[in-house]
Amino acid sequence: MTAEPLERALDHDERLTRPTPPPEPPLPLLRTARESDLPELRRLDGEVFQEVAYPAFLLRQLHDLYGGRGGHLLVLDDGDGRLRGYVLAATTAFHSDSWILGLCVAEDRRRHGLGRELMVEVLARLRRCGTERVRLTVEPGNDAAILLYRSLGFRPEPPDGGLRRDYFGPGEDRRVMCLVL
Ligand SMILES: CC(C)(COP(=O)(O)OP(=O)(O)OC[C@H]1O[C@@H](n2cnc3c(N)ncnc32)[C@H](O)[C@@H]1OP(=O)(O)O)[C@@H](O)C(=O)NCCC(=O)NCCS
Repeated sequence: MTAEPLERALDHDERLTRPTPPPEPPLPLLRTARESDLPELRRLDGEVFQEVAYPAFLLRQLHDLYGGRGGHLLVLDDGDGRLRGYVLAATTAFHSDSWILGLCVAEDRRRHGLGRELMVEVLARLRRCGTERVRLTVEPGNDAAILLYRSLGFRPEPPDGGLRRDYFGPGEDRRVMCLVL
């Protein structure tokens, strides 16, 4: 008897005893936001950002400014009526500068490359529009986001390594990071 059938038999036994892992959920579709997304956007933004989530009226107006075809408000659509992430870039009146005003991925879908996918797509769109420089703010202790931004080429904007004390009010320090496109 050769070793091969024995190995196959062992493989077979192992397959019988090893629990089958649950199937990975399908990857959500990345697309521009539309008006009907607003309730889900509010839910997701509130779930992730809690007390610093956008108020409903502002999210509505940001959607009006930056959503729709060719826009810079992008969502991850799970196809079951739920959104799993979004990114929002807002461009200044002179089109050369843009700010990332929001980025998130639902907690149970993190570490699957979705945050990177959102950022890569919005940066590609900004580049096509002629944007020259993209900035963002991040909490100084938000290592996950800072590592993501650094890997995309963002660097702290001088002075003080990008640190801006009380940027969003007392005790709300932020780090400003910048990418030249
Ligand atoms: C930041 C955030 C959007 C990242 O989304 P994500 O889908 O988990 O990120 P990705 O899987 O695309 O990871 C991209 C890179 O980010 C970094 N990263 C993401 N999560 C990380 C973690 N928990 N620890 C360390 N690095 C992390 C890694 O560099 C990673 O690259 P790698 O997978 O090659 O190591 C997500 O953690 C989130 O929504 N956080 C809460 C909201 C938030 O902080 N938004 C940013 C506000 S400025």
